[in-house]
Amino acid sequence: MSFPMAGGELCAEGVPLTAIARQFGTPCFIYSRAALEGAWREFDAAFAGVPHLVCYAMKANSTLAILDLFARQGSGFDIVSAGELARVIAAGGDPAKVVFSGVGKTDAEMETALAAGILCFNVESAGELAHLSAVASRMGKVAPVSFRVNPDVDPKTHPYISTGLKESKFGVAFADAPALYRRAAALPGIAVHGIDIHIGSQITELAPYREATRKILDLADALAAAGIPLAHVDVGGGLGIRYRDESPVPVPDYAAMLTGLFRGRRERMVFEPGRRLVGDAGILLTRVLYLKDGAPKRFAIVDAAMNDLLRPSLYGAWHAVDAVRPRDGAPVEWDIVGPVCESGDFLALDRLLVLAEGDLLAVRAAGAYAMAMSSNYNARPRAAEVIVDGETVHLVRRRELVDELFAAESTLP
Ligand code: LLP
Repeated sequence: MSFPMAGGELCAEGVPLTAIARQFGTPCFIYSRAALEGAWREFDAAFAGVPHLVCYAMKANSTLAILDLFARQGSGFDIVSAGELARVIAAGGDPAKVVFSGVGKTDAEMETALAAGILCFNVESAGELAHLSAVASRMGKVAPVSFRVNPDVDPKTHPYISTGLKESKFGVAFADAPALYRRAAALPGIAVHGIDIHIGSQITELAPYREATRKILDLADALAAAGIPLAHVDVGGGLGIRYRDESPVPVPDYAAMLTGLFRGRRERMVFEPGRRLVGDAGILLTRVLYLKDGAPKRFAIVDAAMNDLLRPSLYGAWHAVDAVRPRDGAPVEWDIVGPVCESGDFLALDRLLVLAEGDLLAVRAAGAYAMAMSSNYNARPRAAEVIVDGETVHLVRRRELVDELFAAESTLP
């Protein structure tokens, strides 16, 4: 267990959270090394029998130490900016295992990625294809490309994280794909490598994956028949986790469905899982500063805020919140809110807890899209991050210093 109860208090692997708070302060993100590595291995092992590459979607959590742990296992990476590529390289990742997604790649980013020798560009528009051809030709390089095709499938998740519907800004329309592939095959500086989908995030059903994958495999067959064979099929990411009462798709079920669809095919499978590899492996540790125990609402004001964990404010996302040292007594309902000056600054609403000022709380499933989406709003330094490995705690990002917040700024002469 990554975060077990031992001696009446919550721990990270073998270390009490109170000890981590004492040493590193709060708010603090705490990750379990065993959980991170276990999640990556489970995913990779599920496809052991078939040619595949796991490209961790690092937007979920791009902390160097986490990239390093995955790179050591042989992971590739799904990136969306030159900044993410720089992080991969700094963490010791292999650019030859990088796929580059995103609707707004700049010429400069294309150049950086071509120079680094990435595996594939997931091209999302005709305009991007033209730019990539020009940049690669100018550099005397050939850019490997997939088109991100929009399969028009409803992933049945939150509208902000649905990406595969016709109305979405992502990908090229299914009907336009054959003509784009023909154009790409004839362009200088472009080599057609694959096809790509990503239909959304926090998906908890297999059916949308089945439908979307069938569609692009049919398209791959049609392209092969037209003399454009593909080397890989990238089925994107999106596998959900349990925040509250969801029933996530077991990785072996996902793998069985996909390997079934790929039986007899030659293309390598590429995956872009993000949340599923890191979400459950992290918690956000925070301390109760004040209790405002008034009618009609009780507020527990904690030292973490929406700048540390934006998901509740942005999506109304539900994260479990547990007392690190549960107290005896009758629980009452608390809104767990941060110090930021916004009514929308909450981590959790109406939670039954027994609280006192100074108590530590653990916000669960905070490994994905938490630190990665954090900000300095209200001039708040970003939290520290530690990775626990058995009895050892590694500080992998120290708490930001206030001076660093305005180090890039200057006043007028
Ligand atoms: N591939 C592409 C092209 C993506 O855009 C994403 C996520 C992934 C892979 C990884 O998806 P995952 O396996 O993590 O579901 N901030 C939101 C989630 C945004 C997802 C953006 N794209 C949240 O906190 O729920």
